[in-house]
Amino acid sequence: MSLLKMRDIVKSFNGVTVLRGVNLTVEEGTVHALLGENGAGKSTLMNVLTGVYTRDGGTIEFDGKVIGDITIRQSEQLGIAFVHQELNLFNDLKVYENIFLGKEYANRFGKLDKKKMIAETRQLFQELGVEIDPTELAENLTTSQKQLLEISKALFFKAKLLILDEPTTALNTEEINHLFGIINNLKKKGTSFIFISHKMPEIFELSDRYTVFRNGEFIKEGNISEVTPESVTKLMVGDGYDNKSVYQERPVGETVLKLKNFSGPGFHDVSLEVKKGQIIGLTGLQGAGSSEVLQCMFGYVQPSGGEMEIHGKKAEHYSIHTMMKAGIAMLPSNRKENSVIPDMSLLENMYLSEHTLSAFKMHINKKKEKEKFENYRSMLNIKAENSSAPILSLSGGNQQKVFIAKWLNTDAQILLFDNPTQGIDVGAKAEIYRLILELAKQGKTILINTLEIPEIQKVADFCAVFYNGSIIKILRHDEIDETTVMLYSTNAVKSQEVKG
Ligand SMILES: Nc1ncnc2c1ncn2[C@@H]1O[C@H](COP(=O)(O)OP(=O)(O)OP(=O)(O)O)[C@@H](O)[C@H]1O
Ligand SMILES: [Mg+2]
Repeated sequence: MSLLKMRDIVKSFNGVTVLRGVNLTVEEGTVHALLGENGAGKSTLMNVLTGVYTRDGGTIEFDGKVIGDITIRQSEQLGIAFVHQELNLFNDLKVYENIFLGKEYANRFGKLDKKKMIAETRQLFQELGVEIDPTELAENLTTSQKQLLEISKALFFKAKLLILDEPTTALNTEEINHLFGIINNLKKKGTSFIFISHKMPEIFELSDRYTVFRNGEFIKEGNISEVTPESVTKLMVGDGYDNKSVYQERPVGETVLKLKNFSGPGFHDVSLEVKKGQIIGLTGLQGAGSSEVLQCMFGYVQPSGGEMEIHGKKAEHYSIHTMMKAGIAMLPSNRKENSVIPDMSLLENMYLSEHTLSAFKMHINKKKEKEKFENYRSMLNIKAENSSAPILSLSGGNQQKVFIAKWLNTDAQILLFDNPTQGIDVGAKAEIYRLILELAKQGKTILINTLEIPEIQKVADFCAVFYNGSIIKILRHDEIDETTVMLYSTNAVKSQEVKG
């Protein structure tokens, strides 16, 4: 039986139509994958369903009832829970207060029953195998804990339909497996799920059915067992999709970056030599040190030992400003927490780094900035109304492209990219790989940290695999494959030798 039927849904923002009569049908007790490129309209449709936005047309039937314009609260009462793409917690509230916000328990004297709320939160975490202290302030949690808290919060209220909009972007492999276990259990008990993700292996592992949108239009629905990653990608992207390998060896120059027994919070004794024009992939399980080392190289945190040489000069002072001046750029992971300045337009967000570097200039040349933005917009296929649109009006993946443009826009010679394709669709990923290879050809040096091995395989000359805070193995381009990387990152094979 169908739990949800959405028909001919239309939605516009300021006269721009982003949903053009789309359909979505979700059966009881199934996981339904909602697929489409960045900006296709997936999150918007979910916002329409849950009362965040009102629709301009179309009908919704949920659990046998016709649904008119509803509020967020009413959608929750109907049994719909929504885990948003971008984290949506109150940092200055405690963990349990976030869970019970607006639904607090009161005791018989009319006071908040903190004890009961804390106890129930603790029990929930125990059932879900989540290790978080219910009385901790949300701001003290790691990004992965925050994502788990959001998911737990949705699971607490025993919804009939759970919407998960890219729920795994901050989770490690173990946490993802655990989450999928919970989803499969609830599914057996009859709960339905709408699952939005750009990671093909996840989609195929978890989902029963799929619906594809392109550009705000309904394209196709069906059983996951009847499609392949290639065929759904074609449905998402249209005929223009081209997945040909773009990797090419290129001449490299002198050494521009050298780490010698470099140590700091979360990593130690990292030695690495990188030449001008090289692309190095870094990977390892979450917490293995590969992201931490990049943060230290960019001056977010201080090293505790060893050294770093940039263009043959030993770095003495570790601050973001010094590193930017030395020609290093860094795209940090977790966009919402580390990149987005919510009150600014996308152009202002894009120019932030360059303005910091050129603070001595008297005037900002608006016209030139807009021209440059237009360049990046066509290069990266950024979907936005215009450059003065608020950054938050862009879809998640399109925001990410703005931040990639932001760093390409500085003249930095060394680019540190931490999880650069977070939330980016398959078509745009291919564009970004092409761009990275092109930049390397022009002489830029690029370090990319990611858990997605196929990404490294497509671009990296070498891959440094981290385990327990240091590099356990360096693989050449032709040695990089998922099995080999996994073996080293779990320390299943002891490395005899680590070359620089
Ligand atoms: N509040 C808003 N104001 C103006 N435009 C918006 C707003 N919210 C979404 N849009 C536009 O609607 C379109 C669809 O965005 P949506 O967030 O639904 O995409 P998506 O399919 O979820 O993409 P992604 O995979 O990147 O998250 C985009 O072009 C986006 O810019
Ligand atoms: Mg989205």
